[in-house]
Amino acid sequence: MARTIWFLTGNSGKLKEATHHLQPLGYEVRQLIVEEGEIVEPQVESLEEVAQSKITQALLHLSDDQQSQDMILVEDAGLFVDNLNGFPGVYSSYVLDTIGCKGVLRLLEHLQSEDTIQCAQLRSAQFQAVAALWMDGEILYGNGVCPGWIALESSGEDGFGFDPVFTPNDLDAFGEPLPPGTYGEKSVHGKTFGDISLEEKQAYSHRSRALNDLLRQLPSA
Ligand code: IMP
Repeated sequence: MARTIWFLTGNSGKLKEATHHLQPLGYEVRQLIVEEGEIVEPQVESLEEVAQSKITQALLHLSDDQQSQDMILVEDAGLFVDNLNGFPGVYSSYVLDTIGCKGVLRLLEHLQSEDTIQCAQLRSAQFQAVAALWMDGEILYGNGVCPGWIALESSGEDGFGFDPVFTPNDLDAFGEPLPPGTYGEKSVHGKTFGDISLEEKQAYSHRSRALNDLLRQLPSA
């Protein structure tokens, strides 16, 4: 029988992505639904600490039977802007809800150049994601990074969060990110995540990379 992985998320897109990665390995991914406000987002220094705290909180929602047989998945991400010392980082949700994409663009207004590569370097940033899986009393962590830069203006209707202001670095023939602003084998041609489809985003996405990193550590079910 397939072992159940309870994914603590309110985001159906994330649920789809995790199912896509984990079902072929023989796991059944189910959404762990808790009432709004029941899971507290801790104000801590790292994404790993956020994920760890959410697993501890999620465990309270599983019965003893479920705790002995099932697994829990949480995933946390953030946008880290180099010239803002990594801000908003673990505060990304709060920053999105308060100053939004517009506010981030305003914070970087003074960092611009006519030269594309120099501009991308000045505005370099990265999405980071941590996928944490609780199994048999232990937590496995997968990490994923998507380097890129903050666009000069918001663009695109697709995606969510900071997608309209984030342009991922192009990739080389092996799928590895190149330096900001340089042209690669796989290219978004300077477009933001908001301008490309979810399928195209998968090749660059921090979340996909974090889940793949986790998968490498997992036994088949
Ligand atoms: P979460 O931990 O995945 O909920 O991410 C925290 C915040 O980071 C979200 O509210 C989004 O603002 C932002 N974020 C995370 N991943 C992405 C992404 O793939 N695109 C755009 N914004 C993202």
